[in-house]
Amino acid sequence: MGNLIKIAVESDLPALNEAKEFPCGDKTICVANVNGEISAMDDICLHRGGPLGQGVIMRGKVVCPWHGWEWDPKTGAAAAPGAKVAVYPVKVEGGDVLIEM
Ligand code: FES
Repeated sequence: MGNLIKIAVESDLPALNEAKEFPCGDKTICVANVNGEISAMDDICLHRGGPLGQGVIMRGKVVCPWHGWEWDPKTGAAAAPGAKVAVYPVKVEGGDVLIEM
């Protein structure tokens, strides 16, 4: 099991079917709320570096705000072949949001 790192408090989580960015050490993490299920993945789009946590959610995918690549927040995979960002297990404990790195 990896390190659990607090990235937010529960009340900061994105609203239903929205995404949001959270700093985590030297990274930024995109947290998505898809139909009430919270997922975390790297924030940087592998196309040209767009901020995924500033995108909208459509059909369960986070849509990059720059050119519209769609990322599955559960698997980190994009529709483009082979494109995949890291995903992190998320836990909510005692009002804190923790991700496992
Ligand atoms: S930077 Fe994300 S789709 Fe281009």
